[in-house]
Amino acid sequence: MNKSNFKKEGFRGYNQTAILKIDEDIVQTNANTPCGEYLRRYWHPVALTSEVSETPKEIRILGEELVIFKTSKNNIGLVHKACPHRRASLVYGKTEERGIRCCYHGWLFSTDGEILETPGEDSNSKQATKLRKTFKLGAYPVIEFNGLIFSYLGPMDKIPEFPHYDAFEIPGNITRPYRIEYNCNWIQVLDAIMDPVHTSFLHGQSSGIQFSEGFAEVGEIEFFERGIQYLGCNTRRINDNVWVRVNELILPNFTQAGAAFAADGTKTRYFGRSSFTRWVVPVDDHHCIALAWGNFGERGDPIKYNNKEGCEKIEAGEIMNRTFEEKQKNPGDAEAVEGMGSISTHKGEHLMPTDKGVMIYRRRIRNLVKSLEKGNEPPQPKKIKGGIVKTNGQDTILRVPKRNIDDRKFIKSIGSAIMKMQFDLENMSVKERDTHIINNLSKMEKKGIFDKY
Ligand code: FES
Ligand SMILES: [Fe+2]
Repeated sequence: MNKSNFKKEGFRGYNQTAILKIDEDIVQTNANTPCGEYLRRYWHPVALTSEVSETPKEIRILGEELVIFKTSKNNIGLVHKACPHRRASLVYGKTEERGIRCCYHGWLFSTDGEILETPGEDSNSKQATKLRKTFKLGAYPVIEFNGLIFSYLGPMDKIPEFPHYDAFEIPGNITRPYRIEYNCNWIQVLDAIMDPVHTSFLHGQSSGIQFSEGFAEVGEIEFFERGIQYLGCNTRRINDNVWVRVNELILPNFTQAGAAFAADGTKTRYFGRSSFTRWVVPVDDHHCIALAWGNFGERGDPIKYNNKEGCEKIEAGEIMNRTFEEKQKNPGDAEAVEGMGSISTHKGEHLMPTDKGVMIYRRRIRNLVKSLEKGNEPPQPKKIKGGIVKTNGQDTILRVPKRNIDDRKFIKSIGSAIMKMQFDLENMSVKERDTHIINNLSKMEKKGIFDKY
């Protein structure tokens, strides 16, 4: 074999071996890191209610070693794992009426961290009395809501209201709390939601049809940046129908999408809501969890997916517990994002126009992180009428046959018009807004006019 067979312009392996630096500004989530501090300004789900009992459970969130438990009075505590006496793990503690008692020397702590008892010490001990007055076990406030437990791990003088999303009150919606663990940085999992093109390839072509055939169609993509809400609107033509599917991210980590199985582009659907209402929560820099509700019923996914495997498929296209061979044959989201390594190096990427969603939201997080370093608190989700945060993750499918015009432009204009209509109606109450959107979509479809309603 002659070496001239190998052209110099090719074979650039040797030139591209540099180890690239990670994107520290947005991937580091531990305490005392800039992004870790930013994330500590929001409520995050930390566990499923079903996982919490009077038997303490060890969890890691934002790099912190924590223990979560229920007292015999049903109060939930989320505390630092290390006992402040001599660092024994409170996972071996015993829960009782007033809190958790360390196994080693019996100190008792309340759910807000107060040291209630130091039984081994002399009851007149000045040192013990002083410590009980001046020091507390690290503890965090929790809210239990509809099967998920949320916590706020930031400074107490900055604690925000717990945001109430419209997705919490969709009539007839049946929710199933779920957790899916990912062995990679939170940004990798978050990226997928702002990447509507991957659904056509990963979920429609590379692995066969994971949801429905329509997903394989590459649509017309439009991104929207509205405060800290990011939307990726993907409009596809499926025969005589136009299917508008909207993925959503509200910073830092609230995500929704269209349906996984309820919408396939073949049947009319007016403002179907998200298959999941989900948060991507960093466990540490190398792991994260999706804590979520799967949404089932008329405006969510079909009720037959209301089980563990169904939620896994909705979340990642495939069930989670599979052999390597199965994963290699039919990769889902977990394989795509974990395969990058536990922290992907963004400097090694070559972002394209279709990656705009990924670019804009990462840039915003970076700016908010830097701004917080200068003392500016990051914005919370925007509440509208009644203190509710409106969301737009959805599917709409209208019968709109092709016209004698450029169809790609035409369907894109339909997607834009539907989004604008939703934004225009945002100040209504949830019920009013949904009724108006649904009526308008029906009118638009009947009249074939998409910019008036
Ligand atoms: S280490 Fe917990 S009471 Fe001593
Ligand atoms: Fe996906």
